Amino acid sequence: MSAILDVVDLHHRYPLPRDGIFAQRQYVQAVEGLSFALEEGKILGIVGESGSGKSTLARLLVALETPQRGEVRFRGERISGLREARLRPFRRQIQMIFQDPFGSLDPRMRIGASIAEPLGVAEPGLDVAGRRRRIVAMLERVGLGEGAMMRYPHQFSGGQRQRIAIARALITHPKLLVADEPVSALDVSVQAQILNLLLDLKLEFGLSLVFISHDLGIVRYLSDRVIVMQHGKVVEEGESEALFSRPAAAYTKTLIAAMPRL
Ligand SMILES: Nc1ncnc2c1ncn2[C@@H]1O[C@H](COP(=O)(O)OP(=O)(O)O)[C@@H](O)[C@H]1O
Ligand SMILES: [Mg+2]
Repeated sequence: MSAILDVVDLHHRYPLPRDGIFAQRQYVQAVEGLSFALEEGKILGIVGESGSGKSTLARLLVALETPQRGEVRFRGERISGLREARLRPFRRQIQMIFQDPFGSLDPRMRIGASIAEPLGVAEPGLDVAGRRRRIVAMLERVGLGEGAMMRYPHQFSGGQRQRIAIARALITHPKLLVADEPVSALDVSVQAQILNLLLDLKLEFGLSLVFISHDLGIVRYLSDRVIVMQHGKVVEEGESEALFSRPAAAYTKTLIAAMPRL
């Protein structure tokens, strides 16, 4: 088996505001020495309480942030620390969706134009009619119609907006999708619809998935492997069923004990 994603000794910290000009600069160490791999076609779940560094990791994986130390490799090639021009070929292959779809959808842009944007960059040769066909097909695939194209994000429900964000993420046919709490802001009934849509699309597009959530029930249901994070570090890692039925780390046991029973 080959890895689509390799993470090697990743470190990332954020500077805190200085107390005064002579004060020593202080940092928050958000990610500290993470290493793991994701096999092609698999789903890696990442759990951990708020502030454990999950979103920082997500941004490092899609090269929205540059680590202070360590590497992210996509199919064996280092992508962390590359200049934007050299990152471009990877951008279409690695996409991200967020908890709040407003993170990826410009509220002032019509849906059609939002989805067209990454497509224009990835496939500049596509003509207007071809681009339109691709967008309509993608909108239909996520359960929305052509009518969505001319509308704005605020005219949709949270679940519909997440469908649009998924359409935008998948329009360039990426191979890796990083989903950071993609259903955490949605009603439970809508959560199941979006998760099932993601699973269908994963098969259809041959995606590998990093699925980040503080909801252990969802992660258990979806993931092949799971990583438990605390204070920017891996506390425990394993196959999903084994990890949830026989957790080794005390911290994992505590998280599982706090899970609501279905
Ligand atoms: N842009 C930022 N500037 C400063 N500190 C940040 C920033 N983003 C996150 N942090 C801090 O880094 C740590 C990890 O945050 P985050 O990656 O958002 O965790 P999670 O997604 O697990 O809640 C937290 O202590 C958070 O306050
Ligand atoms: Mg987060």
